[in-house]
Amino acid sequence: MPRYSDELIEEVRSRNDIVDVISQYVRLSKKGSTYFGLCPFHNEKTGSFSVSPNKQMYYCFGCHAGGNVFTFLMQYENYTFGEAMEALAERAGVDLPKQEYTAAQRQEADRRARLLEINKEAAKYFFVLLRGERGKRALDYFKKRALSDETIHKFGLGYSDQYSDDLYRYLRSKGYDDEILKDSGLVTIDEVRGGHDKFWNRAMFPIMDVHNKVIGFGGRVMGDGEPKYLNSPETKIFDKSRNLYGLNFARATKKPQLLLCEGYMDVIALHQAGFDNAVASLGTALTSGHANLLKRYTKEVYLTYDSDGAGIKAALRAIPILKEVGITTKIINMKPYKDPDEFIKALGAEAYQERIDQAENSFLFEVRMEEQQHDMHDPEGKTAFYNAVAKMLCGFTEKLERDNYIEAVAAKYMISSDDLRRLVNQQGLKAGLAGGGRASQSVADAQDGARTEYKKSAKKREDGMVQSQKLLLTWLTNSPALFPKVQRYVGADDFTDPICHSVAKMLFEQYEKDGTVNPARIISTYEDEEQQREAAGILNATIHRVDTREEREKALRETVIRVRENSINHKLANTFDVQEMAALAKEKNELPGTVHIPLEE
Ligand code: UTP
Ligand code: MN
Repeated sequence: MPRYSDELIEEVRSRNDIVDVISQYVRLSKKGSTYFGLCPFHNEKTGSFSVSPNKQMYYCFGCHAGGNVFTFLMQYENYTFGEAMEALAERAGVDLPKQEYTAAQRQEADRRARLLEINKEAAKYFFVLLRGERGKRALDYFKKRALSDETIHKFGLGYSDQYSDDLYRYLRSKGYDDEILKDSGLVTIDEVRGGHDKFWNRAMFPIMDVHNKVIGFGGRVMGDGEPKYLNSPETKIFDKSRNLYGLNFARATKKPQLLLCEGYMDVIALHQAGFDNAVASLGTALTSGHANLLKRYTKEVYLTYDSDGAGIKAALRAIPILKEVGITTKIINMKPYKDPDEFIKALGAEAYQERIDQAENSFLFEVRMEEQQHDMHDPEGKTAFYNAVAKMLCGFTEKLERDNYIEAVAAKYMISSDDLRRLVNQQGLKAGLAGGGRASQSVADAQDGARTEYKKSAKKREDGMVQSQKLLLTWLTNSPALFPKVQRYVGADDFTDPICHSVAKMLFEQYEKDGTVNPARIISTYEDEEQQREAAGILNATIHRVDTREEREKALRETVIRVRENSINHKLANTFDVQEMAALAKEKNELPGTVHIPLEE
């Protein structure tokens, strides 16, 4: 990905007014100097989403999404920074420098583009066949499976004809030769027998990437037959472990989690029933590639795998893979039905929503599955089960979390939590994780507790400090005229929080240069969407409204003192020079008396 110059990034940013761009996605109405609307990033009825034409930034007071025009497209369209840059450059008619490709790279890009074209042609071909005389059986099949016309259309479903080479001949007639067709995954070229279609007489499911490009197909026999589904092989454009069926739609969902299912039909049935957050892997087990892809879109995944043994096994394999990348998982129970498609057909969307609401914590699911491995009526079986669970509980390295799970498991399986904790400590001991025996364990617990308490109150203080730093930076951004007055007491280096510090440095520099600030430009210096959101939060802190000038002066003065005082404390903690310590202590003592910031009416 090309890295553009700061000037070019700023040019593209400044030529795309944020109110214009966001208005294409969100209905905004003006209140004072700011626009408000319903936040596109979380479900709400109140309109906490604000867009400021002055700051050229947006910020949601509900879910704290925020940033500049680049961040918006990154969040809304799931673009990378480079993609947002390209889209906005095009919108504003700014020419971006072309990346220099080597001949080999150009050839490779060209080949990929042609493979995408071929797959698209094939999808159109199957789509048309489905609607013709010959496709009637497939259309009936989809109808029999309760798919509406709208759904069939939305997912681009099709039909591959009974002849074993009609697609091949069609693609040849469109000008694609064997040399490229052999890599398309759609045909096999045999020197003697010529070209043959991979798919024939099947109900066709085009597989799209997140940008709605067809990259492969799944084809189902209509009725019984083996194999039930045939899938495109992996090709230059079809990487099964980095794509998910339905993600092109699910990426735009407003629901907080994604539903992960096993089958194409499950995804389709769920979307048709209003669950626009369903995706599935492509006839393969879940991989860490999938987990990383999912992570770009959500923090929480609900597994809605088949309720049979294979489905349970697949779920038990998927949970740690998702956990590894930081995704929390819950398990939806579909019994007595086999999969979401059958469940919804039998009980409807509302019943399914109930199952979502009742989804089981993945650890408790794992414990329940472990339980089924043991004969709980036999004392030995029971002991083995508790030992196994104790071992599993050792996986939680955070004491608080481990304790919570110990309590939950103890309550559910009717064992005293003390007994279970003792087992956990024993298991931990065996694995060399926990401290000494029982006595020293309780000492360790007590220390652990004290440490947690200390950390908690330190955390609170820290949060208060960061809050003051944010508040002051927001204040300065909203009223740059305050700079000369504030600067007498506080400089950029007094902001001790790392990200506040980097924002402050840029803000102070901007003001020094020409007496104005450009907060949206600061946002673009962070390439990472998460950092952009954080920076936006810093420049959109909530300043509580007060009525009188005196009250405002008091609030500002106190914020300035707090920021400076914290900076002094910070320095005090980091110096061993006695003279410096004395000077800092003196300054700290005198600080409240020296700060005076008069405001105009
Ligand atoms: P299932 O056997 O659970 O089928 O396979 P299903 O999705 O419920 O299909 P219907 O409802 O009978 O039509 C789940 C997924 O596993 C892959 C496909 O991706 C399928 O959607 N699969 C299954 C194959 O790739 N080949 C097969 O032969 C079977
Ligand atoms: Mn099914």
